[in-house]
Parts: sequence; C-alpha cells; structure tokens
Amino acid sequence: MQTIPRDSSLDSTLDVVREGFPFLWNRTRRLHSDIFQIRLLGMKTICLHGPEAAQLFYDPARFVREGAVPRRIQTTLMGLDAVQTKDGAMHRCRKDAFMSLMTDQSRRQLLQLLADEWQAAAAQWEQQPEVVLFEEAQEVLCRAACAWAGVPLKDKQARRRARDFGAMVDGFGGVGPRHWRGKRARTRTENWIEGIIKKIRKGKLPVVKGSAADVMAYLRDADGQQLDARMAAVELMNVLRPIVAIATYITFAAVALHEYPAYRGLLRATHEDYTEFFVQEVRRDFPFAPFLGARVREDFTWRGCQFAKGTLVLLDVYGTNHDPRLWHNPNLFWPDRFRNRPISPFDFIPQGGGHYENGHRCAGEWITIEVLKQAVTFLNTGLRYDVPAQDLRYSLTRMPTLPASGFVMRNVRVTGQLA
Ligand code: HEM
Repeated sequence: MQTIPRDSSLDSTLDVVREGFPFLWNRTRRLHSDIFQIRLLGMKTICLHGPEAAQLFYDPARFVREGAVPRRIQTTLMGLDAVQTKDGAMHRCRKDAFMSLMTDQSRRQLLQLLADEWQAAAAQWEQQPEVVLFEEAQEVLCRAACAWAGVPLKDKQARRRARDFGAMVDGFGGVGPRHWRGKRARTRTENWIEGIIKKIRKGKLPVVKGSAADVMAYLRDADGQQLDARMAAVELMNVLRPIVAIATYITFAAVALHEYPAYRGLLRATHEDYTEFFVQEVRRDFPFAPFLGARVREDFTWRGCQFAKGTLVLLDVYGTNHDPRLWHNPNLFWPDRFRNRPISPFDFIPQGGGHYENGHRCAGEWITIEVLKQAVTFLNTGLRYDVPAQDLRYSLTRMPTLPASGFVMRNVRVTGQLA
C-alpha cells in the first residue's frame, strides 16, 4: 500500500483562508504529488489534482456528494438539499430537469432576451457619466434570466433582486457579515420564488411549457414525489442565480480586453472562432470555483492509495486550470492556446468535469460560454467607452473574487447592435 503524502500542517483550515485559490496547487507542487492528505477542521481530507484524478473524482461508483457540501455553502450559494448534494437516481432526475432547459432553441431564446437587455442598458449608460460594469451586468443578466425562466420581475425590483443573487454567490466563501448577507439574500429570494411556484401550481400564474419555472414547479423526484414548494424554489434559483453570476466572468473579460487590447482586432477579424478561444481563456485563467468536494462511497484503492468510506475528497479546480504540465505558460492570458487543443472532459474544469447527464458537471456550461461570447462581442464592437484609472487587481485569497473596482466605464457610446 502506498502512503499518501501529508501536508506538514496539523490542520490546514487557516492556510486555506490565508492562501485562497492556489492552496491545493501550492501543496501539489511542494509535495510533488497529485494526491496528498491534509486535515480540514480536524478531519482527514484527501486532495486530488489534475485530469487523471478528476476522472477518478467524477466516477459515481467511487464517490457521493451527500454530506460533502458544508451547510454554510448550502445556506448561501446553492440552497439546502439541492441537486448538487444528490446522488444516483435522485440526482439523475433533478439533473435531467436542468438539462431539459439547455436545448439549442432555449439557449437562443436566452441570448435574444439578453441582446435586448444589453442594448436597453447601454442606451441608459450613454446618459450617465460612468457605470460599473459588474453591477450593470448583474442586472442585465437577472432581467433576461427571469424573463427566460418565466419568473415575473418588476422593473423597479430588478436591481435589488440582482444584488441578492450576487450576495448569495459572494457569501459562500465569506465569514461574518458577508456570510450573513448571503444568507439573508437567500431567504428573501427563496420566499419570493416560493410564492411564484405556489401561484403557478394554483393556476394563478401562466407559464410557458418547458420554461424553467414550469419544469421546476412540476418536478418530481425519483420516488415520484413532487418537490415541495420551497425545494422547487431552490432549484429554480439554481437556474437564475448562476446566470447572474456570469457577471463575474464578463467583468474579467472586460479587464482582459482592456489589458490586452491587441485581442480586440483579432476578435473582430476572426470573429467566431477567436471569440470562443477568448472566453475559454477567461474561464481558464480567472478564478471562480476554487475546488470541489465529494465523499468516498465505499473503501477502494487507487494507484496503491487507500480511500476509506466516508473520507472527504477535494478536487483542485483552480490548480488544474493553472498546471504548466497541461497549459504552457499558465499564468499568461493567451487565448490562442485553445487553437487546435483538444479538451477532454477532465483537463479543463472551470465548471466541473466529467459528463453533464450522469455526473455533476455544471448544467449551465454551454449557456455560460454563449453568454460570455455575446458579452465580449458587445463590449468589443457594440460599445465605445473610456476606462478611467482604477484598481483592477483581484485577490486570490478572497473567494469568490472580482477586480476591485468592478470595472468602471466612462463616456459610454453605443456603436453597434447585437444580432
Ligand atoms: C454545477 C460553476 C454557470 C447551473 C456547477 C459546478 C461548478 C459550476 C464548479 C459544480 C460541478 C461539480 O460539482 O462537479 C459555474 C460557473 C458558472 C456557472 C463558474 C458561471 C459563472 C451556471 C449556469 C447554470 C448553472 C449559467 C444554469 C443556467 C448549475 C447546476 C449545477 C452546477 C444546476 C449542479 C450540477 C449537478 O450537481 O449535477 N457549476 N456554473 N451553472 N451549475 Fe454551474
């Protein structure tokens, strides 16, 4: 039996807080091993890095998600007992519901709604001396996501609802006030969406067949039971909230366009392909999900290492996307790396790895890519703006993170229409 290399620290919990996103990657390098052991909150935890380990992590015969997501993350980011925490038939049933929303036609509808929202928002920006892109993008995404999902959203509430979705994401890695803000935002939003689910079920709110609101309102678990109204609300929010969260990537994309202006021309000239490389590089280089957790289903051995039933296992997302064995010069923002580079389900994992249907890979990955491509095109060809001096740095020790200024744009002018 192989001994799994151990981190020298008695307990690494504080080191995770101190080091942030690169915590696991720092130890992979230090211990020269893609598998190592730490203690987190006093518990033995096995850490995995890289594509081969990701392939193991995404084997549902080896791992379960039940008991892997800390309550503090469920009460802010994703909601209690949601799809992310399910296994087997229960997971499959809920995941199918999410995947049913991802048809070509449905995604095109979302993009059309977003095109209208971007255009309307930009017309307002022209009247203002400056705007903060992150905040504006959150609102644009929230309006379009609600319209797409069949969730009525009053005009004057859009900004507050968008902030609440943002606060849930922001709360997941926070302690104290940031965490509490996230929890309060979640409670408020669950109350709102639960009311909508109840109205739909009573026939008081008509919904389009197959829309997210319709699908979640009538979703049954594998045991045939309809989700209670709160649970249905939680899953409907698992569609809305992450769409609003794309604002983070849009803000990073704006920073990349600003800091590497040479790409603007390439994006215009070789439009479709290059836009895809560009947004893939945004998702690779800029941090969002640091790592993912699962628990060992039954005892097994991998590469001579013993995995005992119930052990917590973490998969290094950030580090796998910054490993020089996989990515040449990984700290350089360089979209061309995606030209002719085959991507496996396990070596490029900003939104999880493995497969969509029978695994936990992000249900909204295609949407994220398409929404980002549209936003990059709009920033590059639909607008002219000045970028005043501001702090565009982002911290790797804050989870989630964002350029400090949120990307301030001045003297915005609309120069083109989104198709
Ligand atoms: C799962 C990231 C956008 C819906 C995940 C996971 C990550 C992730 C890391 C966990 C994968 C795992 O546990 O193995 C992101 C990021 C996004 C994004 C960074 C963009 C900012 C979206 C969008 C949607 C969505 C737009 C839906 C419209 C989901 C769902 C799951 C999930 C439902 C749970 C999947 C499951 O447990 O089977 N996402 N996501 N996400 N995401 Fe996303």
